[in-house]
Amino acid sequence: MSVLNVVTIGDPVLRERAMEVKHFNNNLARLLDNMSETMEDHEGVGLAAPQVGIPKRVVVIDVGDGLIELINPVIESTSGEQLGPEGCLSIPGEFADVKRARLVKVRAQDRFGEAFNLEGEDLLARALLHEIDHLNGVLFVDRAEKGAAKP
Ligand code: CO
Repeated sequence: MSVLNVVTIGDPVLRERAMEVKHFNNNLARLLDNMSETMEDHEGVGLAAPQVGIPKRVVVIDVGDGLIELINPVIESTSGEQLGPEGCLSIPGEFADVKRARLVKVRAQDRFGEAFNLEGEDLLARALLHEIDHLNGVLFVDRAEKGAAKP
């Protein structure tokens, strides 16, 4: 496994719509392993493939309850509301309050192509929405509350 280079805001790959994964092969497994290692190395709670320069619909998340791998994730439903601070490995040093749903239901595939459903609350909901945004070229600063304090 290796730590990948994280691209930062201004790189056009962060603004692309990432492509659906069709091949569940060793390349995908290697990408997932390297993304996990990269996330861990940067002490992040989530990482999307475009952040390592790869415009594919692949996400890893670990909010402290173990690793979650999501391929081709789709938001099925959202409910509630939460306001809280967010940051991003691709926007170093910047934090802002972002309004997100409090509960999110997602459908995705695992590294073998098997479909599964996932429900996230609070921080996990925030991480899911932030990372899935990355797959659509959206960054948290696009959604940040106007005039929010930036620590
Ligand atoms: Co991010």
